[in-house]
Amino acid sequence: MSFLANCLANIKPSPTIAVSMKAAELKAQGKDIISLGMGEPDFDTPQNIKDFAIQAIKNGETKYTAVDGTAVLKNAIIKKFKRENNLEYIANEISVSTGAKQVIYNALIATLNAGDEVLIPAPYWVSYPDMVLLGNGIPVIIEANSKNNFKISANDLEKKISNKTKWLILNSPSNPTGACYSEAELRSLADVLLKHPHIHILSDDIYEHLIFDNLKFVTLPQVEPKLKERTLVVNGVSKAYAMTGWRIGYGAGPAKLIKAMGVIQSQSTSCPSSIGQSASVEALNGTQDFIKPNALLFQKRRDMVVKMLNEIDGINCNIPNGAFYVFPSCAGLYGHKTPQGKIINDDNDFASYLLEEALVAVVPGIAFGAKDFFRISYAASDEFLLNAMNRIALACKKLS
Ligand SMILES: Cc1ncc(COP(=O)(O)O)c(C=O)c1O
Repeated sequence: MSFLANCLANIKPSPTIAVSMKAAELKAQGKDIISLGMGEPDFDTPQNIKDFAIQAIKNGETKYTAVDGTAVLKNAIIKKFKRENNLEYIANEISVSTGAKQVIYNALIATLNAGDEVLIPAPYWVSYPDMVLLGNGIPVIIEANSKNNFKISANDLEKKISNKTKWLILNSPSNPTGACYSEAELRSLADVLLKHPHIHILSDDIYEHLIFDNLKFVTLPQVEPKLKERTLVVNGVSKAYAMTGWRIGYGAGPAKLIKAMGVIQSQSTSCPSSIGQSASVEALNGTQDFIKPNALLFQKRRDMVVKMLNEIDGINCNIPNGAFYVFPSCAGLYGHKTPQGKIINDDNDFASYLLEEALVAVVPGIAFGAKDFFRISYAASDEFLLNAMNRIALACKKLS
């Protein structure tokens, strides 16, 4: 009898975290590694948020809180949804967890029975399929074409729906592609979903504030209010407020689901950090002045990275409209030989070559369900990015 649970046979550790760990290991050995593997803003949490958290500690807000979030934070979240998304929720429709990651995990574990299907457009965030598997569900992948900017169409969606479909996971702006669905594109997906009332939608909006080119962010229940009662909107403070380490994410959805998610949380981790929750109140209620300039900064970095990548023979990069990732193709370099005599046959080979030759850590596309691509996180300083792009260009030039 195996000691480890059977479901672990299909689960892998997060590949993005693995790449970052490998890069950190090489760095510790003295190698001059540039890691573009991790998805977190390179700037610090704004001072007003830190000050608020310090004051919360001084006030003794250091005890267990209500399991799925304090009333004050839930209130700030309700105001955020009204202000930014024109969506109305009440407190028992909000759940706060240790990161958006736990919100998603709770939702899936609270709802999946063995054999339930979850539709996941690929390229996808690495954790979705593995979380579904942990819940004994079946990830059903909908492949999105790079020619359609990595977005699925109504037709792609319709083809994968079965009577076992429990959820559709949407993530816009997307990790890893930066793709953003327009209102019209969401409208066409909504029309399909209206015909299939047994499907719930998990809308992962964690990159909401990282959107470029004057595009307007919209989320599915805004586009089709009839879908609100079967949508869980997931968001958090990690990306917009540079608060990845504070570990606060939240979900808004039907009260019955929110209650079930609270039960899972009460028997696993209890409340998220009280200090993190206090800091998040200030993040959501305080000044939002830095959000737009930050998005502009990321847009400039995107422009630089896309331009430099597209100047490299064999690499082809779409222009994403959001998040802080680019997802270029490396297929044009297949069959080429490294100076060490190894042939590049796939995105794994290419990412390994970049790590060894250019000392730049990127994540192979296969980790996101899309071979022939690789992901670069450009949440790094201009200097770092310029250096990394030059090293990648040089390494590609050395291929014969
Ligand atoms: C698409 C997506 N969803 C959710 C998360 C989780 O964010 P959090 O830090 O709030 O757990 C991430 C983090 O990388 C992400 O990229």
